[in-house]
Amino acid sequence: MPIGTINNRDILLAPSVLSADFAHLGDDARAAEAAGADWLQIDVMDGVFVPNISIGLPVVASLRRVVSVPLDCHLMIVQPERYVADFAKAGANHITVHVEATTHLHRTIQQIKQLGLTAGVALNPATPLNTLDEILPYVDLVLIMSVNPGFGGQEYIPTSTNKIARLRELLDSRGLGNIAIQVDGGVSQKNVAEVAGAGATNIVAGSAVFNSRQTPAETIAGMQAALPQR
Ligand code: DX5
Repeated sequence: MPIGTINNRDILLAPSVLSADFAHLGDDARAAEAAGADWLQIDVMDGVFVPNISIGLPVVASLRRVVSVPLDCHLMIVQPERYVADFAKAGANHITVHVEATTHLHRTIQQIKQLGLTAGVALNPATPLNTLDEILPYVDLVLIMSVNPGFGGQEYIPTSTNKIARLRELLDSRGLGNIAIQVDGGVSQKNVAEVAGAGATNIVAGSAVFNSRQTPAETIAGMQAALPQR
């Protein structure tokens, strides 16, 4: 269930498994689900688009067997169109691709939706919002990266808050307020109210949920306490 509600918009939490204990990934995923995670984000990295290599299709298929929450695959890979069908087959419910990673973004978003999944587009911190101009009517979610992608546990980039607010204003002004604004990187109970207050409706948190001194349940409860409730 949502971790909060602001301006009549439910705020969802999508813990990122990148910071989970990969030796006990199923246990961590189930713990996050039991603690109230709305989605589970799987960070797929190819070592080319980002300077790191993480997890891929077999992990998605394995997690599909142990949790029932939607699996959100954040593809930090070049030419993601090559793999969207495979991620759908592995059990993904949502796929986000980077605007910087594919030449034919419109075709890739259409491909994801034709597979029956929801589709998102992600922007790196230096990528301006105007790159979204033509694709916004076709997506279900925009992911604002509030860290440079590739690693968990980084500091939130403070200028991200203004970028989130400008995107919220842009979506609302174009009658596209139903598009989710997901924010990913350096979000915890300390700044979730700032991020959601700026207009985010889907919060990714990796190290705050899986790599902190608290349990996932304690962290998620802390986030709920920081946000207005219905
Ligand atoms: C970074 C990933 C993020 C990351 C978030 O490239 O896309 O999802 O795991 O981790 P935290 O919440 O620790 O910044």
